[in-house]
Amino acid sequence: MKLLVTGGAGFIGSHIVEHALSDGHEVAVLDDLSTGRRENVPAGVALFEVDLRNREATERVIKDFKPTVVSHQAAQASVSISVRDPAFDVTVNVIGSINLFDACATSGVELLIFASTGGAIYGEVPEPARARENDALLPYSPYAISKLTVEKLLHFYQGERGLNYRVLRYANIYGPRQDAHGEAGVVAIFAERMLKGDPIQVNARRQLGDAGCVRDYTYVSDVARANLAAAAGRVEQLVTNVGTGVSVSTSELAGMMQRTLGIEATIKQGPHRAGDLERSVLDPSRCTQLLGPPTSMAVGLATTLEWYRAHRSS
Ligand SMILES: NC(=O)c1ccc[n+]([C@@H]2O[C@H](COP(=O)([O-])OP(=O)(O)OC[C@H]3O[C@@H](n4cnc5c(N)ncnc54)[C@H](O)[C@@H]3O)[C@@H](O)[C@H]2O)c1
Repeated sequence: MKLLVTGGAGFIGSHIVEHALSDGHEVAVLDDLSTGRRENVPAGVALFEVDLRNREATERVIKDFKPTVVSHQAAQASVSISVRDPAFDVTVNVIGSINLFDACATSGVELLIFASTGGAIYGEVPEPARARENDALLPYSPYAISKLTVEKLLHFYQGERGLNYRVLRYANIYGPRQDAHGEAGVVAIFAERMLKGDPIQVNARRQLGDAGCVRDYTYVSDVARANLAAAAGRVEQLVTNVGTGVSVSTSELAGMMQRTLGIEATIKQGPHRAGDLERSVLDPSRCTQLLGPPTSMAVGLATTLEWYRAHRSS
């Protein structure tokens, strides 16, 4: 297949590119390098340095490369930026996506895969539940609202323009190449700080000193494999969660990372961060049926921390 990965110079997109190459597909990347890096794009893969908000340039990429499948990962991916600047989020995540979908529909792209958010679209997931694909959707942040809007737009584009699609709703993804300087990505942030000997901070779930928010930490290779399964037409349902179903608090995560690294970090307690969901865990049944069991945190963290050790910034 000819696969175009938007956001392919970013964290998750670059893993999709790597997996697609090793499966023998022809791959190109569309990315404006706003948070992505040129060095994340493997040699020999065409990089179209284009902003999705530029409608004509986006259309040109689709016309020139003529992908059969598009994996749409490019996004303003920060919840807190979306809270500070909803208009920016909507312009990149909604208008940018519309520009891409128009180009794909007119050029006869066979399938579009969309990176949505399982971590934010369901709202609070109370103990002991795991969010299922058909559960009520209660997005709160402009980021999550944009992602849901794009899911709904895909339904429209399929009905009116014949654009075939699959939505993958990712949990909290971690792995090599995640940016430790952004505002999300606690594994990346903790890894860099622990390796430098700096203290780490556990923000409260409710009250100062508790174990912190609960998340479903999912290894990035599982996300790449889900994208490639979807690209190969192996995902039947329109919407599939990509997660593990395992609940891990920030304190538990810090403990696992310390043991894996053999480092005892100084842990500071912080207040609850405004806008953070207390608990978000996904039901991974559909994904597990497709790909088998998810990568365990022991294996995922070991590989990730080895990478951060080898690539530490100072
Ligand atoms: N990381 C997670 O835990 C997580 C969870 C759920 C969903 N997602 C989604 O997965 C996708 C990838 O996220 P990531 O964590 O790899 O983030 P990332 O910031 O590393 O990757 C996003 C990429 O999109 C590019 N981009 C941003 N705006 C663009 C624009 N206007 N035009 C072209 N390219 C643009 C960036 O340069 C970057 O390379 C995003 O859609 C994100 O919303 C991520």
